[in-house]
Amino acid sequence: DTALGGEGPLSGLTAIVTSGPTHEAIDPVRYIANRSSGRQGHAIAAALAGLGANTLLVTGPVSQPDPAGVRVAKVETAEEMLRACQEGLPADILVCAAAVADWRVAKTAGQKIKKEDGGKLPVLSLTTNPDILATLSKPGRKRPRLVIGFAAETENLEANARSKRERKGCDWILANDVSDTNGIFGGAENEILVIDTAGQESWPRMDKQAVAQRLAQRVAQHFANRKKR
Ligand code: CTP
Ligand code: CA
Repeated sequence: DTALGGEGPLSGLTAIVTSGPTHEAIDPVRYIANRSSGRQGHAIAAALAGLGANTLLVTGPVSQPDPAGVRVAKVETAEEMLRACQEGLPADILVCAAAVADWRVAKTAGQKIKKEDGGKLPVLSLTTNPDILATLSKPGRKRPRLVIGFAAETENLEANARSKRERKGCDWILANDVSDTNGIFGGAENEILVIDTAGQESWPRMDKQAVAQRLAQRVAQHFANRKKR
């Protein structure tokens, strides 16, 4: 859809942003999820669109309103999120801000699991979800030119984020400390350490809108340096 995307330093470029948690069904009424609010991812999609990028937001279940000027694909599971991203390719920019569930239940129960069944505790057998960021970072014709991930860590922030960037194959990683005492996960503010091939840059704690603006500016700067195409 080339009708979207406006004036600005990112005009002519396309972006995909993932946001929110994913929900992985246990049975028809229960699921595995996490505390992600979608605030950061939604703000990033809005900020990229604000600088003129034609932007697709792929979001898990959140209570955030759809940002203006952005196409929105709503998904539940990690597998659906990956598929929606792949359908949105090619893109110049990919930002994976979603808190994708690392595991899903291997066999979703077709009926509500009953407490009474045999009197035994149910055991959930898990399987690994696809890693959207790692999958879409793989070298190839469809790899976005700039791939940005997040690293949610509760300890050894810098070291873990560095190795995560290398393992995933993304260009930049935005590391944040999500220890349960600091209110970042699901909260309004974020404190970011950006790691790229050139080194690292730490940003002061600021609200997630401001983080999104700063990231979008950094993306614009990156493409300006590369003369766009
Ligand atoms: N991510 C993804 N798909 C997954 C898991 C993670 O796209 N199945 C992305 C997230 O959106 C984020 C980055 O990978 O941009 C890092 O997520 P994180 O949970 O911090 O890292 P993991 O590799 O899942 O490792 P762990 O949770 O064990 O720290
Ligand atoms: Ca994870």
